[in-house]
Amino acid sequence: MLIFNKKASDCSESEVTDKSVYLNRRQFMKTTGGIVLGAGAIGQVSAALQDGNPLSPPISLKPYFENITETSFGKDDKISPYDVATSYNNFYEFGYGKSDPKDRSSEFQTTPWTITVEGEAGKTGVFDLEDIIKESMLEERIYRLRCVEAWSMVIPWVGVPLADVLKRFEPTSKAKYVYFETLYDPKQMPGQRSGGLDWPYREGLRIDEAMNPLALLAVGMYGSILPNQNGAPVRLVLPWKYGFKSIKSIVKIRFVEEMPKTTWAMLAPNEYGFYANVNPNVDHPRWSQKQERRLPGGVLFPNVIETKMFNGYEEEVGSLYAGMDLKRFY
Ligand code: MTE
Repeated sequence: MLIFNKKASDCSESEVTDKSVYLNRRQFMKTTGGIVLGAGAIGQVSAALQDGNPLSPPISLKPYFENITETSFGKDDKISPYDVATSYNNFYEFGYGKSDPKDRSSEFQTTPWTITVEGEAGKTGVFDLEDIIKESMLEERIYRLRCVEAWSMVIPWVGVPLADVLKRFEPTSKAKYVYFETLYDPKQMPGQRSGGLDWPYREGLRIDEAMNPLALLAVGMYGSILPNQNGAPVRLVLPWKYGFKSIKSIVKIRFVEEMPKTTWAMLAPNEYGFYANVNPNVDHPRWSQKQERRLPGGVLFPNVIETKMFNGYEEEVGSLYAGMDLKRFY
């Protein structure tokens, strides 16, 4: 985010996966339980998709991933290829280059995984992620992801509504905001061994934003679990906000009374606000936010499209900001 990296437009238009092809693959994943089969089956899948193989869920979660509820979100959007969504990433804990997260996260340990819940809530403590997931049905939500750097993708996430999970912790009336924190483990996360950001990565939401039905706690994408570079094993997905709000590899949730300090707003408050709602009318001080490059797109076909208010989710979230000056609260 510090650098507007143009080089990444490394894929051509022809690589875009048609949704019907992807859905066929979903069907395939369902009937095979998400297991990568023998050469014939692999050939069938890769011939249809040509964009990489989703990871298999662990045995304990397999039944949940075999019964993902499909939703109508994003039915008109063209899904970005798996290969692009998993190789062009921002996950500074693993480095600042777009390919660093994939190249440097293969050894990252994500099981077992616990989340510590603290603060203004009736139920606090340390919770096993698997137990949190198993309480809900997994849903697929095809969402547009708009990065503040002015590129975007369309990703089929798998997860549970954030509100469902948060409500189970019984937030008190003092819980005006929710704070999230990424794992801090410099041994596993090479990016944390150097400065740059003030680790751990921190994010936050107003409680009503967190409870909005669009907010997703994602544990998967493309019908299976999250690859490490995409924030395994659990991350936020907030499609109406710039991508940096969608914090990865969450280990802590804290219900708080005051607006929490968040990573990017602490680093450069004039460039990155707490709200970070996608807004084509408020430019970043160093570049315009009116348009975005929908990936994949190359130098010859940059695939530039107009950016929409709230990333096109105004109907769902506009009321959260009624009466607010969005130029001031960016
Ligand atoms: N979460 C953590 N912990 N560290 C990060 O560097 N980058 C953010 C967000 N979540 C980031 C993070 C940014 S800037 C973006 S655009 C999205 O993750 C990118 O998600 P993706 O790599 O899955 O596309």
